[in-house]
Amino acid sequence: MPNSISQQIQENYRVDALVDRVQQVLEQAGLGSGRLPWSDLAPLDQFHVRGLEASKELADALNVKEGQSLLDVGSGLGGPARYLAAVHRIHVTGIDLTPAFIEVSNYLSHRAGLGHKLTFRQGDATDLPFADETFDLAWTQHVAMNIQDKAKLYQGVHRVLKTNGRFAIYDPIKGNNQPILYPTPWAPDESISFVSTEEDMKEALAAAGFKTISLVDKTAVSAEWFQHQRAQPPNPLSLPAILGPELGAAVANFARNLMEGRVRLVQIIADK
Ligand SMILES: C[S@@+](CC[C@H](N)C(=O)[O-])C[C@H]1O[C@@H](n2cnc3c(N)ncnc32)[C@H](O)[C@@H]1O
Repeated sequence: MPNSISQQIQENYRVDALVDRVQQVLEQAGLGSGRLPWSDLAPLDQFHVRGLEASKELADALNVKEGQSLLDVGSGLGGPARYLAAVHRIHVTGIDLTPAFIEVSNYLSHRAGLGHKLTFRQGDATDLPFADETFDLAWTQHVAMNIQDKAKLYQGVHRVLKTNGRFAIYDPIKGNNQPILYPTPWAPDESISFVSTEEDMKEALAAAGFKTISLVDKTAVSAEWFQHQRAQPPNPLSLPAILGPELGAAVANFARNLMEGRVRLVQIIADK
């Protein structure tokens, strides 16, 4: 029985023999062996609303430049990191709490021929194992809603960014004060869900030392995306295909939370 919040979060995302599962799903889709273009993986390796499109928008907002170094906080299956390395030609370091996700990130990055531009390590976003002023850029998508201590999270990111570094965030926040419906993809219930209000999030970023904080609301476009997704034929490459069918029900709740205004989705750029 998991006890600490960290263990409960790992339990929420845990899938046994995940690399084997990913290999099976790729085989079924005719992508069993050899080099795999990173973009073929996008339907199953971007673990956030609006997938690759959202990662592209975030990279544009961040103004990523070739050769920069970027820390992806809560890097998941490594899809956003592969996109950034392949298209923006940067080196990405990913850190994630879930050991199986690190294994899958390494496996898929190797298959995509991008292993040399990417480093993934297991660790906690509230205790970043990096020296001060290591990275030009930092990035996080759909992670802070699992993190209780936002001060530690944002202070850590601020610390490891170089002077004038920039931080890109794409996260769910609280909406209209109606209760959030569970399960969601990030939590079976309220016990490991720490969704901020916009005010609290901005305050925590400012308190950590970020100077300018600009926010774009992505709620409406995300709700439309969910509606469009529902009308699509099933894709053999999908997150539920590898993480399990329960994810489908949790994603449906995420869509309902967005459509009913219980949750909003925001993109934030914060400057050190
Ligand atoms: C919904 S997934 C998003 C993954 C990835 N950012 C993406 O968009 O594809 C949330 C991720 O946050 C990670 N996570 C949650 N709490 C964390 C923590 N305290 N430190 C590091 N990673 C954490 C989970 O393991 C999971 O991979």
